[in-house]
Amino acid sequence: MSHDLARPVPRNIPWDDPSADERDPAARYAELRAELAALLAGEDDALANLANAAAAIFHTLPGLNWAGFYLLRGPELVLGPFQGRPACVRIPLGRGVCGTAAASGESIAVPDVTAFPGHIACDSRSRAELVVPVRVGGRVVGVLDLDSPHPGRFDATDRAGCEALAVLVAPAMAALLGA
Ligand code: SME
Repeated sequence: MSHDLARPVPRNIPWDDPSADERDPAARYAELRAELAALLAGEDDALANLANAAAAIFHTLPGLNWAGFYLLRGPELVLGPFQGRPACVRIPLGRGVCGTAAASGESIAVPDVTAFPGHIACDSRSRAELVVPVRVGGRVVGVLDLDSPHPGRFDATDRAGCEALAVLVAPAMAALLGA
């Protein structure tokens, strides 16, 4: 694929829009889906796309202190592009919230991480966590992980919204893994 070397980030994306907090959460996810699709369209560099996706999610959804990806490499999840404080690099499959979601193939929303057995604390500010598996052809290739300092931050709308975002980033994750 040939690229316009200086292709700009789409200008209509309201990153850090203060009014975002007042919009209906489902509507905000619909906007974020469209924005993310526009951001990834026409670019085939998988690392760049996952990096921009982490930034878009972190700067669009309110109340987060961490957002990013872990990629399934053999028996463990390995840290991928993210926004937030530095995080644990390797998480064995089945361990922590991320490893549990990846092993089961099911999204997990944890209202209070201190009550989740085996939770891996990367940032002491994190109180709630949402982990959504990323799948390619039915196979889990990694996870999208969101952390919040607000207990109970993630609900069914976040879960459904993030599962749709995971579909958008799946091709980039598969390309990075050579899957
Ligand atoms: N808390 C996660 C580890 C990853 S960090 O939150 C970025 C877990 O228990 O798997």
